[in-house]
Amino acid sequence: MSYKDQIDLQKLPRHIAVIMDGNGRWAKGKGKLRVFGHHNGVLSVRDVVEAAGELGVQYLTLYTFSAENWNRPKLEVTAIMELLISTLNKEIAKLMNNNVRLNAIGDLDKLPGKCHKELLGAIEKTSANTGLVLTLALSYGSRNEIVHAAQRLAAKVQSGELQPHNIDEQLFEDNLYTGGMPNPELLIRTSGEYRISNYLLWQIAYAELYFTQKLWPDFRREDLFEAILDYQKRERRFGKTSEQVN
Ligand code: IPE
Ligand code: IPE
Ligand code: MG
Repeated sequence: MSYKDQIDLQKLPRHIAVIMDGNGRWAKGKGKLRVFGHHNGVLSVRDVVEAAGELGVQYLTLYTFSAENWNRPKLEVTAIMELLISTLNKEIAKLMNNNVRLNAIGDLDKLPGKCHKELLGAIEKTSANTGLVLTLALSYGSRNEIVHAAQRLAAKVQSGELQPHNIDEQLFEDNLYTGGMPNPELLIRTSGEYRISNYLLWQIAYAELYFTQKLWPDFRREDLFEAILDYQKRERRFGKTSEQVN
């Protein structure tokens, strides 16, 4: 039986987050420039987005470019931004066909003008779609997101709109970039690195973590299905005992 057939559709994670890592090493292994890896990584994105949509996953959030990634060589940063523009352009028809709603989180004002414009255009075009919500984390840093939420709440307190004692976990969460989205139940990281790299720190408090050695350009739909199956075998206890949750 294929991995897909073994998945229990009643127990799908509603939200899957992915740290798409290993593009550079993939290219290097083939004697090519890092950018070649990013280009091939787009093929994995396409495959995984389609597979998640087909299954009925509601939210897929992809770590596409971190706040820290701005510190990479200028040439690589420029190439990634250009790749983003051309990919949005090329894939928009497919997103429409697949009923995917595009979304973005992060410090988007830092993106080059053309990139920002293309992104907002694509988000707007897909805004009435009702299938998978595909969120790109761009210029995204989780600590920055948390500070930003604190600033928003502080401003509301200052204006008298809010009392400090009314700030609870739910309100704080609503003020993150991901406000309104459920927290991810499953976080996947490729490339054999066992770290979070400033991704969705608040939101993954109780996520199941899945690490694979595969480099991102080698990660395809079957790998997503395998990760979901692994997730479905776990017992999520949320601090309770095994007897309590069964
Ligand atoms: C992930 O692959 C893509 C981005 C961070 C933009 P990397 O570019 O980090 O590839 P490695 O980790 O150097 O192999
Ligand atoms: C995390 O990968 C960011 C993205 C996948 C976009 P990095 O390659 O930037 O993370 P580190 O530097 O290995 O922690
Ligand atoms: Mg990396």
